[in-house]
Amino acid sequence: MASLVAEKLSEIQIGDDMASTAPNLMKNLSLLSPDQVELAKMLLREEQSHLFLHWPEPGVDDDKKRDFFEQVSRLNSSYPGGLIAYIQNSRKLLADSKAGKNPYDGFTPSVPSGEILTFGDDNFNMLEEAGVKEARKAAFVLVAGGLGERLGYKGIKLALPLETTTGRCFLQHYIESILALQEASCKLVQGGCNSEIPLVIMTSDDTHAPTLNLLESNSYFGMKPTQVNLLKQEKVACLDDNDARLALDLNDKFKIQTKPHGHGDVHALLFSSGLLNKWHNAGLRWVLFFQDTNGLLFKAIPAALGVSLTREYHVNSLAVPRKAKEAIGGITKLTHADGRTMVINVEYNQLDPSLRANGHADGDVNCETGYSPFPGNINQLILELQPYIEELTKTQGAIAEFVNPKYKDSSKASFKSSTRLECMMQDYPKTLPPSARVGFTVMETWLAYAPVKNNPEDAAKVPKGNPYHSATSGEMAIYRANSLIMKKAGVEIADPVVDEFNAQEVEVWPRITWSPKWAITFADVKKKVNEKCSVSQRSTMIIKGQNIVLDNLSLDGTLIVHAIDEAEVQVSGCVQNKGWLLEKIDFKDSSLPQETRMRGFKIQKVEQLEVNYSEPGKHLFRA
Ligand code: UTP
Repeated sequence: MASLVAEKLSEIQIGDDMASTAPNLMKNLSLLSPDQVELAKMLLREEQSHLFLHWPEPGVDDDKKRDFFEQVSRLNSSYPGGLIAYIQNSRKLLADSKAGKNPYDGFTPSVPSGEILTFGDDNFNMLEEAGVKEARKAAFVLVAGGLGERLGYKGIKLALPLETTTGRCFLQHYIESILALQEASCKLVQGGCNSEIPLVIMTSDDTHAPTLNLLESNSYFGMKPTQVNLLKQEKVACLDDNDARLALDLNDKFKIQTKPHGHGDVHALLFSSGLLNKWHNAGLRWVLFFQDTNGLLFKAIPAALGVSLTREYHVNSLAVPRKAKEAIGGITKLTHADGRTMVINVEYNQLDPSLRANGHADGDVNCETGYSPFPGNINQLILELQPYIEELTKTQGAIAEFVNPKYKDSSKASFKSSTRLECMMQDYPKTLPPSARVGFTVMETWLAYAPVKNNPEDAAKVPKGNPYHSATSGEMAIYRANSLIMKKAGVEIADPVVDEFNAQEVEVWPRITWSPKWAITFADVKKKVNEKCSVSQRSTMIIKGQNIVLDNLSLDGTLIVHAIDEAEVQVSGCVQNKGWLLEKIDFKDSSLPQETRMRGFKIQKVEQLEVNYSEPGKHLFRA
């Protein structure tokens, strides 16, 4: 009874408030549904009456007023805790930001423990084998909702060619790699298995339709459509000031301005999708998170999964060696005076000051290996499913957020433009208990990390010695990695030459590519080549097929071998032809497609030897 009275009183209070603070809204109340009236009250309670200042009399723009509340309702339901929580979190984070509060105050940084791998040694090979075996118990999650503003590509990044010899796009490569892992993993189970590794792609309004279209127009690149789930992240409301007043769209005053919330949304989306429990019930044990344009990643996945398994990591962050002060986040253990600890990515501009503040006078410095002891985070995570579900059940997938307003001046009283809260997928471990097993796996950069993030102009400005992270460097990294892997397997691979494309200096290795089903581990490559093979620097070799063996092959030119899975093909002899040339192009040449311009070269196909095997059985090809 008492609570009913209190409710009634507060209704009257809100009604009075509405009449005085939002008279224009009050006049339009009859247009709104009961749910929308509740949302209106919530907005007023959260001091958002400015949203209605311009509302005209009933009868004018009524549809727009209803649309406004449709949007409010969407913003309310897509954020854990609703808009109230969003506004309140914003106020707190904006106050901390204004006060210059460091989120890591009170924490002492130290080097966490993890596994540092060397490609091709016994430990690496053992871990790869263990990882492949385990892959059938994994689900893959690709975060692909980003705008890609730095790259400036007109389409989605997943549709970009990973390299030009085959023109295969990132999404095709990822899907074929997962399918290759699935097949290899099942082969290792006695009697085989028919596991289907699930793939989730997180999209956003900016990427959803083109991602779906890319899948549908390519028959899901061979994956069953039922294996793939698309989860769309919603944007969050923008904020106009330190009081977290929501920003109206400058072009449409009946719309709240929105911006992406960041890839951290993936955890809440996975949780609310119900997929995690479904996977758990199906016996899966791992969830692997990865990003849209790292063409090398799948070379690192089997061994990294092997590390998760053998070290029983709940969280395994993939990392690469990092020079002290290099501009990528470092994986760091943080210990608080009150006993709290976490192993987490700390941005490079926070790591160095934090070390200095904690007795390391020189901050982040290289150790005897020539690298910082804090490995460089590449934002590919492997989580163990069961503890992941337990944690998300507590947090609903909400990830620690941050805000990064651009202030007009040092008083920090107002912003240059609206801001919003953001969250990052790698901040997941922040809420974990100290008992959680959080570690990392360091792989050599040439093997594991070559993202395509920067447009040619910005890449050309990258200081010498730092990675370009451009389409040019991303493609050259594929050829380098494949060449180095073959070299390690015994093939005589000619040294690279240094050349410049789009004003970026890169090593040009032989253009060797293979379909994932040909080899997903080093052991696969070793089985399929021998030390009697050689490849010259100007060569291109494309291997498309599962059972193709290179035996005593000398290549100086271009060779393409294509075989169906049931054909066992042995390729040998001496192949020599004019081959394919890398022709330099100017990225400003608008007569060429953007995909080509952003690389600074195209392939001129002068001459090649192409062999095709479409009949099952054993075949010998001698050039
Ligand atoms: P990036 O750091 O590459 O950001 O994201 P971005 O938004 O794609 O590109 P810029 O910063 O505008 O140039 C890393 C990964 O996270 C995904 C991206 O698609 C990429 O795979 N991402 C990013 C999301 O899924 N959602 C987001 O809100 C942001």
